[in-house]
Amino acid sequence: MINPPLFRNVLSIQKHFVAKDTDIFITGLPKTGTTWLKSLLFTTVNRNNHPIDQSPLLTHHPQELVYNLESDVYNEAFVYPRPNNLNDLPPPRLLSTHISYTSLPESIKASRSRILYICRNPLDMILSMYYFFLEFEKKKKNYEDEDFFEDFCEGKVLCGPFFEHVLEYWKTSFERPDKVLFLKYEDLKDDPKLHLMRLAEFIGMPFSLEEEDKGIIQQIVNFCSIKNMKELDVNKKGVINKFFEKKSYFRKGEVGDWANHFSPSMLERTNKLMQEKLEGSGLSFKMLL
Ligand code: A3P
Repeated sequence: MINPPLFRNVLSIQKHFVAKDTDIFITGLPKTGTTWLKSLLFTTVNRNNHPIDQSPLLTHHPQELVYNLESDVYNEAFVYPRPNNLNDLPPPRLLSTHISYTSLPESIKASRSRILYICRNPLDMILSMYYFFLEFEKKKKNYEDEDFFEDFCEGKVLCGPFFEHVLEYWKTSFERPDKVLFLKYEDLKDDPKLHLMRLAEFIGMPFSLEEEDKGIIQQIVNFCSIKNMKELDVNKKGVINKFFEKKSYFRKGEVGDWANHFSPSMLERTNKLMQEKLEGSGLSFKMLL
């Protein structure tokens, strides 16, 4: 589901964006943990440029360091400070998009650029979206958990449908393992160090044994944890793209918060949908840790 202004931005990306071989993209549906991945990627790539106690993440929200193509760059509606020319960004350019694999510009697919895809169990994702838009809409529209749930069941998810989005990237991660690294929010929560090492290896910047001995990987994990990010002054006040409160990108950051909101029958319906849609794909989601 893409609303008309977003659709215009996506067309603009398809028409104008030219990927470079050195680019690294974060992709995933909104509210699946893309902000977390931005912090992890940015800190990992820049670990030799900035010691953690001088990290630009201490003064910038992760969304300001890893630009989203459709919201921050190819978006006429927002005047949020953005690079006039993406070519000014030093390599590797770290960028993000919620666009489905099918709709990505050809140059991203054809180049040797890499994609980190993150997904999350659908109930935690729609709950997170519910809270995000509730805050954004200031309850104007009287959104209910149920509306979000019904929309999800009908395939109406922002930038979705959910299963098609996830499955396209999942399939591509097998067909082109050097192109797409497929990550799950639940796995990252379960063992962040392991998956950060996979990420670093994938982008061609593996952690050395010396770095591991010095505890660098754990330091990055701790620095990028929601507990730490939430406490940084820079993430407590202000807005992104005129509307979105910086703090609303950091809520609970848990697996299974859906259980506090959705009924057993909603879970049953979701499980059925998952069975139907994911059958034969080998993909599954942890609903609780
Ligand atoms: P919740 O609303 O369930 O807490 P996105 O970044 O894609 O918009 O996703 C937002 C979700 O990721 C929110 O989930 C948010 O709290 C969570 N999140 C943000 N930063 C995180 C971090 N450092 N660690 C874990 N989860 C994080």
